[in-house]
Amino acid sequence: MTAYETILVESPAPGVGLVRFNRPSALNALNSQLAAELFDALEGLDADEAVRCIVLTGSDKAFAAGADIKEMQGTDAVTMVAGKDFTEWSRFTRIRKPIIGAVSGWALGGGCEVAMMCDLLVASETAKFGQPEIGIGIIPGAGGTQRLTRAVGKALAMEICLTDRKLTAAEALHYGLVNHVYPVESYLQEAIALAGKIAAMPGVAVKLIKDAVNKAEELSLHDGLAYEKRNFYLSFATADKSEGMAAFVEKRKPEWKHR
Ligand code: CAA
Repeated sequence: MTAYETILVESPAPGVGLVRFNRPSALNALNSQLAAELFDALEGLDADEAVRCIVLTGSDKAFAAGADIKEMQGTDAVTMVAGKDFTEWSRFTRIRKPIIGAVSGWALGGGCEVAMMCDLLVASETAKFGQPEIGIGIIPGAGGTQRLTRAVGKALAMEICLTDRKLTAAEALHYGLVNHVYPVESYLQEAIALAGKIAAMPGVAVKLIKDAVNKAEELSLHDGLAYEKRNFYLSFATADKSEGMAAFVEKRKPEWKHR
């Protein structure tokens, strides 16, 4: 596998790819090198037929403490408009396999935004989510005002972005931002186990479901239902549809081809 400097890529379980942010001295702040390496690794895992679900994590202390402020300090609006700053994060949302964020410690600013780009979230009891950009005179720039509002509602998103209120793991669970909260000793194993469950499902249907559920955040109900119907019909073209229905009728376990 490609050697990276700011991330680690592992295969912790059959069908599961694991990416770890690895800039401990900066609490995994997301600089441009880390972003480039992350996109490259995710695209590699997306193309790898042996992988059917991805886990993205940081350290127990910090998932990621935001975009790298020291790198951003020297930049200006025109340079950002002229270049590709932050627009490249759309590469993350183009990954077609489910990504489970395993979050412990700080998930702040860009770190919270990356967590919210994931499809499911597993948190440790120490996880803290927030959008503290206001404290350095800027605003969230990778989805903090948009995905957070869709996830927890306008009133709470306003308070988080305007006052730098942090959400605890328990609050994040209460408001539906995360799927599960576990002790710090086990959150990563639990996330890998959840990824293993998804990896054991028929792979084409998994991709079609991820695609359709994410569309629900963007489309009207009318358009979303039409989009779902297309993916539903498409799932009838798979070998796994034939196998799954035959296995049901024959009262046996299906053997997925992921085709
Ligand atoms: N960028 C660059 N470096 C960072 C960083 C960041 N976002 N967050 C932490 N670090 C660095 C610190 O500068 C420090 O490095 P040095 O030892 O070289 O000084 C190291 O990580 C450890 O950090 P602290 O000493 O501050 O650790 P702490 O435990 O006292 O505090 C913290 C932890 C509360 C997370 C604090 O580090 C902090 O507030 N970080 C910044 C959080 C933030 O504002 N994030 C938003 C960034 S803007 C953004 O993300 C824009 C966007 O929407 C795309």
